[in-house]
Amino acid sequence: MCGIVGYIGDRDVSSVLIVGLERLSYRGYDSSGISVISEGELSFWKKSGKIHELSKIIDGLNIKGSLGIGHTRWATHGIPNDINSHPHLDKSKKISIVHNGIIENFLDIKEGLIKEGYVFRSQTDTEVIVHLVDKHYKSNLVQALAAACKHLKGSYGIAMISELDPDKIIVARSGSPLIIGKGQSENFVSSDINTILPHTKDVIYLEDNQFGVITKDDITIYNNELTKIDAVLQHINWDPVQSEKGGHDHFMHKEIHEQPAVVRRIISKYVDSNGSITFKSVKDVPLEDVSRFIIQSCGTSWHAGLIGRYLLENYAKTPSEVDYSSEFRYRRMISKGKDMVLAISQSGETADTLAGIREAKSNFFPIISFVNVKNSSIDRESDAVIYSHSGQEVGVASTKNYISQLTTLYLFSLYLGVIKKELTPEQAKSYIDELNKIPDYIESILAQEETIKTLADKYYLSNQFLFIGRGINFPSALEGALKLKEISYVHATGYAAGELKHGPIALIDSKLPIVCIAPNTSTYDKMLSNIQEVKSRKGKTIIVATEGNKEIADYADDIIYIPKTIEDLSPLLVSIPLQLLSYYIAIKRDCDVDQPRNLAKSVTVE
Ligand code: M6R
Repeated sequence: MCGIVGYIGDRDVSSVLIVGLERLSYRGYDSSGISVISEGELSFWKKSGKIHELSKIIDGLNIKGSLGIGHTRWATHGIPNDINSHPHLDKSKKISIVHNGIIENFLDIKEGLIKEGYVFRSQTDTEVIVHLVDKHYKSNLVQALAAACKHLKGSYGIAMISELDPDKIIVARSGSPLIIGKGQSENFVSSDINTILPHTKDVIYLEDNQFGVITKDDITIYNNELTKIDAVLQHINWDPVQSEKGGHDHFMHKEIHEQPAVVRRIISKYVDSNGSITFKSVKDVPLEDVSRFIIQSCGTSWHAGLIGRYLLENYAKTPSEVDYSSEFRYRRMISKGKDMVLAISQSGETADTLAGIREAKSNFFPIISFVNVKNSSIDRESDAVIYSHSGQEVGVASTKNYISQLTTLYLFSLYLGVIKKELTPEQAKSYIDELNKIPDYIESILAQEETIKTLADKYYLSNQFLFIGRGINFPSALEGALKLKEISYVHATGYAAGELKHGPIALIDSKLPIVCIAPNTSTYDKMLSNIQEVKSRKGKTIIVATEGNKEIADYADDIIYIPKTIEDLSPLLVSIPLQLLSYYIAIKRDCDVDQPRNLAKSVTVE
């Protein structure tokens, strides 16, 4: 999704911006651009396509600049073309703006501005901002930006430069992240901390409705009344994330293979040497009183939430419900006083999940979040946070972070079970013993990679797939289908196998591949009946089953075996072959596995 960079200092400005844009690229984008002020004069370059298309037009120009801003755009309003790319400029081309987020009332503003004689070049919502700044400009740019922002409904992170005040970058935030990095006689701006950390670890997170004025030597922060406020300078004590492929063809492949290490890392973070679970970050939260959990999240994180519900109900005997954040945020929020909201997010920036947190907070729900990216907005706005510790996930398709979400939710549920006295510490330890075996089991599934690749060769031309599962592996079916469709553009649907005969069974013919998730769990017999229903209609079955289960092979066109584990841990194993199957089908279909079309790693707009 869109990304912002900015730099002011003595380095080669355009190079710092381009490198920054490259570091943002994992988020997904379809065009990019930069704007630079050199000897008081503003220039800009923007191009649809990948960043190297932009580099091609600026290479050799010998741009000398003292400050600049840059942007990767993920199209929302207007197709991805050169004109709609950022930056956007006012009529005299003296003010340049880059923007993340969505201006919901842009059509009304645009209509008004057109009546006043403003001419629009692009179809974007962003362009209204720069014309509003122009309209409100008298002699002070930050005042003009603040006046412009008063008209905006929606979300924004904005960086602006101008010939009218050529020694400053001006930034604003409402609902879309904006971070300022403080250097020595140089300063940085970005919407993503990873772009700043290679340069400096001293950062200011702009809060909503704040403005920043950044010169080479100073950073001044204002509230929405333009009163100066003390900025909180934070020192980040972790390193910029490693984003090399390490010998793998794709980040997704690397991340699939990191999963055993991720599970081991999480165990080492949350299980002490006595085998007891410690979540220091929630130790002061009165968890024993919670009578209902409401889990809210999106996409793969929502699937993790669905599995989390089974775990919380099983180990902590606490009723739990799960909702898409995009639905939850608009629901009537009824709290009986002992409810708690759990938000789950890899990026910590997903707009709907963040909005869900804010709504829930304003309705007095306490919030614990499961987050991977430290210092993200969700991290900072939750009452307590449990980190996923999966390391940076670059591939747009979530793999290792899903496994880390399942692992942390499993440990959290056991922890809660002990606190609520629904489990004895000894029982919890026996469940942790089972978890300790999972990394080796995942490794043994990864060792079957060549077999799974052969299945991809066999099925990659199918244009639709059905995934079915039951109980705790119904969400595994949803996740398997999501993984396949997002990276290979094949239509795939996940279904609760018990629902087949209520509709989707009509889809089954001799051409439809049906991925049947059937490990040895409490719903195995029911699942076997569903598979027989599929087989008797000549469906092509690809079955994921527990090692040693020979009976099920009679109903399989193809079979992938996973090691035997307890029911509550089976989703961790089931997901590995499904990830590999999607990966290899996408490769065979020649798709961009790490940056699938239309998708963004971090969905920062509603
Ligand atoms: O960063 P989040 O976990 O909040 O992101 C939620 C979804 O956007 C994300 O899981 C998405 O569905 C992935 N592309 C799935 O692979």
